[in-house]
Amino acid sequence: MKPRSSTARAASNIALVKYWGKADPAANLPATGSLSVTLSGMVTTTRVVFGNGRGDDKLELNGVDATETATARVSRLLGRIRNMAGISDRAVVKSENSFPTAAGLASSASGFAALTRAAVPAAGLTADLDELARIACSGSGSAPRSLLGGFVELVPAAPGEAAGCTVRQLAPPGRWDLHLVVAVCSGGSKQVSSTEGMEHSRRTSTFYQAWLDRHGRDLDEARVAVDERDLERLGRAAESSCFRMHAVALGANPPLLYWSPATLAVIHRVWALRSTGPRGWITIDAGPNVVVLCEARDAAVLADEIGEVPGVERTLVERPGSGAEVIA
Ligand code: PMV
Repeated sequence: MKPRSSTARAASNIALVKYWGKADPAANLPATGSLSVTLSGMVTTTRVVFGNGRGDDKLELNGVDATETATARVSRLLGRIRNMAGISDRAVVKSENSFPTAAGLASSASGFAALTRAAVPAAGLTADLDELARIACSGSGSAPRSLLGGFVELVPAAPGEAAGCTVRQLAPPGRWDLHLVVAVCSGGSKQVSSTEGMEHSRRTSTFYQAWLDRHGRDLDEARVAVDERDLERLGRAAESSCFRMHAVALGANPPLLYWSPATLAVIHRVWALRSTGPRGWITIDAGPNVVVLCEARDAAVLADEIGEVPGVERTLVERPGSGAEVIA
């Protein structure tokens, strides 16, 4: 076929109510729903070109050839799109992050959302949001949320349905100018990927079933909090979800600890500040970095306070941003 290309951009997202564990690891189907905010500044731009004959796909990340593992993960998603389009051409994929990948901020969410958005038209296909979400979910369970902007809920398919998930926007980015201060923390022990960490937790953690049982309550709370733009209510639901997710990981055998000393120091600083203000609430993914939710007016002071915590390498201030889009 004549080479056909498309370019898309997608921003990263941070889960306020997290998923941690898959109902079906082979189909990459999350065991629970999740609720996130799509960010404004941490963006991946991806160009996909199909039509260079048969052979292995090629992936370049920030101008450098990607590892075999990363390329294989991208190829799996492209294979699904090739099947849908009835084509067999290899793809050349070039992906750039607007944020420092070395700081541990690399996100599979923006990467797989941008890849899905670009690869579908490059293969000559059109797809609705449900179909895009199913494709993105096969790459990463957090990626479908980056298809939409603002506050987003992911609902996984029920057992018996076709594997995948749906996403819906709870509020557009302009509805609530919540700010997020990202503390990049040094000294994390060698990170176990979220895919490995959640599977290890599912198989061995004493707390995994309790996590599943309680999850719906955090989702209900967070949904209402977004609707009412109630920061304290959202912050409490986010901290409940975050600390229970890390408790599940700590309860695995052997235990998984994603935090560094700086992570813990930031938690203490944010909690100590909360009684006097500026008020912030914490969430932490599968790594040492801390994200602090706050009102717009408190973001600069919180960033300064957190930036002074020993072991914090830098801080970034983010706000709700838009969903993935095709740009060329
Ligand atoms: O599917 P992944 O690899 O993007 O896993 C995401 C895991 C967390 O970031 C910890 C939680 C979440 O819901 O984003």
